[in-house]
Amino acid sequence: MKGIVLAGGLGKRLYPLTKVTNKHLLPVYNKPMIFYPLMTLIDAGIRDILIVTGGNSAGDFLRLLGNGKDFGLSHLHYVYQEGEGGIAAALALAEHFCGGDKMVVILGDNIIEKSIKKEVEIFKKQKVGARILLKEVENPERFGVAEIKDGKIVRIIEKPKKPPSKFAVTGIYMYDSQVFDIIRTLKPSERGELEITDVNNAYLKKGELTFGILEGWWTDAGTFDSLLKANILVAEKERKK
Ligand code: DAU
Repeated sequence: MKGIVLAGGLGKRLYPLTKVTNKHLLPVYNKPMIFYPLMTLIDAGIRDILIVTGGNSAGDFLRLLGNGKDFGLSHLHYVYQEGEGGIAAALALAEHFCGGDKMVVILGDNIIEKSIKKEVEIFKKQKVGARILLKEVENPERFGVAEIKDGKIVRIIEKPKKPPSKFAVTGIYMYDSQVFDIIRTLKPSERGELEITDVNNAYLKKGELTFGILEGWWTDAGTFDSLLKANILVAEKERKK
């Protein structure tokens, strides 16, 4: 199983914090943001990890993370995303690295309380397709949202004005290698990006999308408010240790 942290994009919603540096290098309590998704993958037993970065200060990821020794890794892989083509465009850069293997993808600004190990074990046994993790939230209109009927996802809508449920699609996605063929069929959305929601809907259409509910708290950190929330949640967790 391969692991991929997507840390590209320009982080425009955090401007001017991101004017000279990369969003994923900003502090979240006592660590740079990128540490958290990286630790989530490592905790789930994944050792072969690619970081997709881009935008400002891309070279600083190398200085910060090196070969991953501080995380118990013997090496880390990196690729560079030009511009801000979207989450699916960033993932497309991982095709060579994955070489036909299954993968766990995590967005570089997604921070969670608990482990995803059990979910990854479930996905290992899944023969084909994809698995996503949902979380009930108070503000679903900010995210991809799952419409659920009779316990099944019927479609996923990206940032709906009228959310069909409170179940946000978190930025943790598990895919088989078909994902790269699916990405090749995508067209840019209204915001000019290749959307990961379109990828998930393509798997849904094939009847190959399963889902779990994420345990513990989850937040992104890509807006001023969610960055503040992430800092507070992590600080509370650290103080409890
Ligand atoms: O956080 C979960 C949400 O993330 C999902 O519910 C949405 O379905 C999904 O579209 C995404 O929504 P956002 O609009 O919040 O994503 P954002 O553009 O903030 O990008 C999130 C991360 O993805 C970012 O921290 C790094 C990576 N990314 C993003 C873009 C646009 C890239 O690596 N390259 C990119 O070009």
